[in-house]
Amino acid sequence: MKNTLSPSAAIAATLLLLAAALVSVDAKAKVCDKGWECSKSEFCCNETITDFFQVYQFENLFSKRNTPIAHAVGYWDYHSFITAAAVYEPLGFGTTGGKQMGMKEVAAFLGHVGSKTSCGYGVATGGPLAWGLCYNHELSPSQSYCTPSLRYPCTPGADYYGRGALPVYWNDNYGIIGENLKIDLLNHPEYLEQNATMAFQAAIWRWMNPMKKKQPSAHDVFVGNWKPTKNDTDSKRFPGFGATMNLLYGDMVCGQGFVDGMNNIISHYQYYLDLMGVGREQSGDNLDCAEQAAFNPTPAPAASS
Ligand SMILES: *[C@@H]1O[C@H](CO)[C@@H](O)[C@H](O)[C@H]1NC(C)=O
Ligand SMILES: *[C@@H]1O[C@H](CO)[C@@H](O)[C@H](O)[C@H]1NC(C)=O
Ligand SMILES: *[C@@H]1O[C@H](CO)[C@@H](O)[C@H](O)[C@H]1NC(C)=O
Repeated sequence: MKNTLSPSAAIAATLLLLAAALVSVDAKAKVCDKGWECSKSEFCCNETITDFFQVYQFENLFSKRNTPIAHAVGYWDYHSFITAAAVYEPLGFGTTGGKQMGMKEVAAFLGHVGSKTSCGYGVATGGPLAWGLCYNHELSPSQSYCTPSLRYPCTPGADYYGRGALPVYWNDNYGIIGENLKIDLLNHPEYLEQNATMAFQAAIWRWMNPMKKKQPSAHDVFVGNWKPTKNDTDSKRFPGFGATMNLLYGDMVCGQGFVDGMNNIISHYQYYLDLMGVGREQSGDNLDCAEQAAFNPTPAPAASS
């Protein structure tokens, strides 16, 4: 053990700085415990999701999901959503920034879910927005969504078609999400159409995590954790609901003007804001992404399709 003073002093100084930074954050951050739903986090000191979002509201939002013509009758329920949310509430999901922001975040997240799992096109008693959570998987997949991957190779016989609350497609995505949730989704992609808690967990994980380092998550851009850079503002990316669509769907939905795909997601978000009693006038700035360039542009295809 050679004690050369200067490097270790430098390290010690750095550690002290880090410790000081941690302490100053910690001194302000109260840690609260709300039982299984929200434990040991500063975010738990605020209202939790069950304080402002109850069974009857879930039933209102997804009122047609158990009608006989729906495609996942009996699958989705309130309890699964809250159980899945409980993993992320201590990290700020639905608990950041006070009750109003919490309600808005739940409406925004579920707005994406409702839009992606709706079967309200055309049929539509109760209106096209009443049919969220009609599906839990893609009904007629056109392919098995297997792409060569060193890290997440396809399991023979497994199909990686769209499943879940924010449908997951492709072996790579099942692999990444499974690794993070510690669930073997690569070998068992079917879990996401068999267990609604897992399906919601996968969706909330996607909402709470950036797809690439140095990018924000959908959660971050929605609750105001994110400051756009010059590149972002040049690309018309600003904090708000619009940027959540950009992070989840990129140029499949954004930067195309006011296309149906984008409008449909916004309509679900606003419908849920109304039903939850928040009101669509609280939708927030930068609601759409009609003019936003994608955070992660789709690589240009070799031939047009
Ligand atoms: C808790 O709610 C208040 C507003 O009611 C908000 O200012 C504060 O940032 C929230 N705490 C966290 C950790 O988000
Ligand atoms: C569904 O998934 C949750 C979360 O991973 C797990 O705790 C639960 O046991 C699962 N339910 C069944 C019936 O496997
Ligand atoms: C900003 O955009 C330019 C041009 O697209 C790119 O070359 C550069 O890497 C970007 N900078 C950051 C920090 O993302």
